Amino acid sequence: MRISQQIFPRPVLLVVSVDGRGRENIMPASFVMPVSFSPKYVAIAIAPERQTFSNLKEVGEFTANVATLEMLDQVKVCGSYSGRDVDKFSMVMLTKVPSKKIRPPGIAESPITLECVIVHMELFGDHYLLVGKVVEEHVRRREFNPLLHYTGDYYMEARVLKS
Ligand SMILES: Cc1cc2nc3c(=O)[nH]c(=O)nc-3n(C[C@H](O)[C@H](O)[C@H](O)COP(=O)(O)O)c2cc1C
Repeated sequence: MRISQQIFPRPVLLVVSVDGRGRENIMPASFVMPVSFSPKYVAIAIAPERQTFSNLKEVGEFTANVATLEMLDQVKVCGSYSGRDVDKFSMVMLTKVPSKKIRPPGIAESPITLECVIVHMELFGDHYLLVGKVVEEHVRRREFNPLLHYTGDYYMEARVLKS
């Protein structure tokens, strides 16, 4: 049984990175977690074979863009191709927004974009754990329906429980 079937659901972030020549790439990640409130840190786990990982090793910055239910189709496309082979930004209808403090752009359709600078990178098994310090944040909407990942091609939606 995969760990993704044991620990779920997990929010989906669209991680935007650039290589040394400024070529942008976008990939969904659900092995993600908040690490600290203040200052904010966020951790993501990225497999070394991803183009995103090569980019992050070269340019230690990324934007973490929260994915919503409406972005499911784009998430699937960005998770099915590698930036090594295609320009995913031109394949999906997502709008780049220049970041304030880092090179990778954010995504306008995302309600929340966190600009992150990588402060730690360490291999654990088949993924690298990357910890990013949030150096700028963009809150476009406070109310949204986060897209949640189960495993493989299975997704879930969130429901708020009244206490
Ligand atoms: C919903 C979803 C979540 C994913 N989560 C991760 C993850 O946390 N870490 C990872 O390395 N790959 C994850 N993947 C796989 C990558 O997104 C996928 O391999 C992608 O094509 C890599 O693109 P790249 O080579 O352009 O970086 C996920 C895919 C999907 C669809």
